Amino acid sequence: MPIRPNFLERTVFYTLNQAPAMMLDLAGAIAYQAVSTAVRLGVFDALAERPMTAAELAQTLQAQPRGIEALLRALSTTGYVDFRDGHYANSAMTRKWLLDNEAFDGPAMTRFWDAALTTLWPHAPDVIRSGERPVDIYKWVESDPALNSAFQQSLVSTASNSGADIARKIGLPSSAARLLDVGGGHGVYSLLMCREYPNLQATVLDSPAALEVAALKVAEYDMADRVTLLPGDMWTLDWGGDYDAVLLFNIIHHFDQVANIKLLHR
Ligand SMILES: C[S@@+](CC[C@H](N)C(=O)[O-])C[C@H]1O[C@@H](n2cnc3c(N)ncnc32)[C@H](O)[C@@H]1O
Repeated sequence: MPIRPNFLERTVFYTLNQAPAMMLDLAGAIAYQAVSTAVRLGVFDALAERPMTAAELAQTLQAQPRGIEALLRALSTTGYVDFRDGHYANSAMTRKWLLDNEAFDGPAMTRFWDAALTTLWPHAPDVIRSGERPVDIYKWVESDPALNSAFQQSLVSTASNSGADIARKIGLPSSAARLLDVGGGHGVYSLLMCREYPNLQATVLDSPAALEVAALKVAEYDMADRVTLLPGDMWTLDWGGDYDAVLLFNIIHHFDQVANIKLLHR
């Protein structure tokens, strides 16, 4: 749970500027490390079985009691676990956002962001100085099947939560028959567009690795007759024609103006 300064702390940090507010960001970073460590150790999955003492959890996870105790205290302070009668249990927030949620894959999100924060962000000063990216995020993601899956699954969470509303608000004419989803990844936006517009057929263009996740989603939505997967490079592949609409969701932020104009011309 995000760090929530109380009234006195807000006054001292923000209003009076009498203490370094950056310490709150540091506390947030440490809190994130605690929850991502818990995900990696399987703490929440174990506590989903039953509430446990720190010693019982340490035994279940085959970990050292001292470390588990420290981690549980941090998680209790930040609201991820509740402590009662010597036992720790998952909080309602953890149950909703880190377990049992078909529309939001919190563990996948932490797996992707752990990797991004430790692998990509250290390059930030060089990237800003030089304007060059030493690592292409998409090539990096696809170099590891588990990371590729965590990346696409974390995007699925956003798409599943907002895709149906977006599909409705886009307001395609009912005559619209063909949709192209460029860099459509997991394909969920296309699937939800097809659900909203019964006459629509969609084509999801992305790399073969990204489309592996899309293939699973197409099967899950049972829409193989409506959604086609087109593997390839969006800069060089022939997209085909006669599309009534083209989606470019979460794509243009990654490229510069020249590249985006080229993309829009395509
Ligand atoms: C940030 S994700 C967005 C995925 C999806 N549109 C969404 O909004 O959830 C960007 C997608 O663009 C794809 N992509 C990036 N460069 C590409 C290229 N040259 N050709 C095809 N797909 C590409 C990536 O594989 C990734 O799935």
